[in-house]
Amino acid sequence: MPVAPVTYGASERPPRGSYEEARDDYTCDQHWERYTPLEHATYARLLARQIKQAPGQACDEFIASVDKLGPSDRIPRFDAISTALRQATGWEVVAVPGLIPEHAFFSLLAERRFPVTTWLRLPEEFDYIVEPDVFHDLYGHVPLLFDPVFADYMQAFGRGGLKAHGLQALEYLARLYWYTVEFGLISTPHGLRVYGAGVLSSVGEIHYALTSPKPQRLAFDLKRVLLTPYKIDHYQSSYFVVDSFDQLFAATAPDFAPLYAELNGQARLPNDAMLGGERSYPPNISNPRPN
Ligand code: PHE
Ligand code: FE
Repeated sequence: MPVAPVTYGASERPPRGSYEEARDDYTCDQHWERYTPLEHATYARLLARQIKQAPGQACDEFIASVDKLGPSDRIPRFDAISTALRQATGWEVVAVPGLIPEHAFFSLLAERRFPVTTWLRLPEEFDYIVEPDVFHDLYGHVPLLFDPVFADYMQAFGRGGLKAHGLQALEYLARLYWYTVEFGLISTPHGLRVYGAGVLSSVGEIHYALTSPKPQRLAFDLKRVLLTPYKIDHYQSSYFVVDSFDQLFAATAPDFAPLYAELNGQARLPNDAMLGGERSYPPNISNPRPN
């Protein structure tokens, strides 16, 4: 017997992790009207806490565009962001119910559509969530999509992901994504800055990544990155540092197919120890941490 479709009214929504309202490409509607006053207030608190940490820690390209996310007292409307983004770099954001399969994810990136999770963490998950929510996706990822070079890098990543999928090489590209898009650092005349979304949107790791003496900060090297496994449940032991987004774009532009063939069967590299000849960037002089 066919099951009647469930419908949801304003301020009701499917449970987190439910994909029943998603289309075939995994996108869905944001249903902005369903957010509760508590959710808008929680988002505003997250944003206020994190934006205080941006000066001197987030890269200039992030700071230049973070205001384009819209009013800071509520969860933004995705369509308003898309209007601004389309004008700037031809990207748009699309709503998704949560994590989506890799192939669907890369297909969207290849079309310059960035998937943003609709749900927001609960107040009791304020400091840490295990999966990306709307705050991580918007605050962490979207400001850099206003930067023309980074915008092109993300589209190239989508195309590269589709290719890697066919070559059984997603393991390598996942590492590149992790160490650049999520945890990347950039060297500037004023010291190291963060461009990775996972660090930008983390309350503790942004200061740790830049100033702690513990992690190593290695110059970005494509093969090193592709062979370095990462940890998902801990601050990173290694970060990789680029000099510019142009450098990152150029280093990742060549065809990876021969590289995948070469790397297959090569040993994984340590993520907590340097190889001969490697050196770590010194941490930034520690500023008192803003509260
Ligand atoms: N150049 C890569 C390839 O041929 C694609 C890519 C570009 C992947 C940028 C990641 C980032 O597969
Ligand atoms: Fe992310």
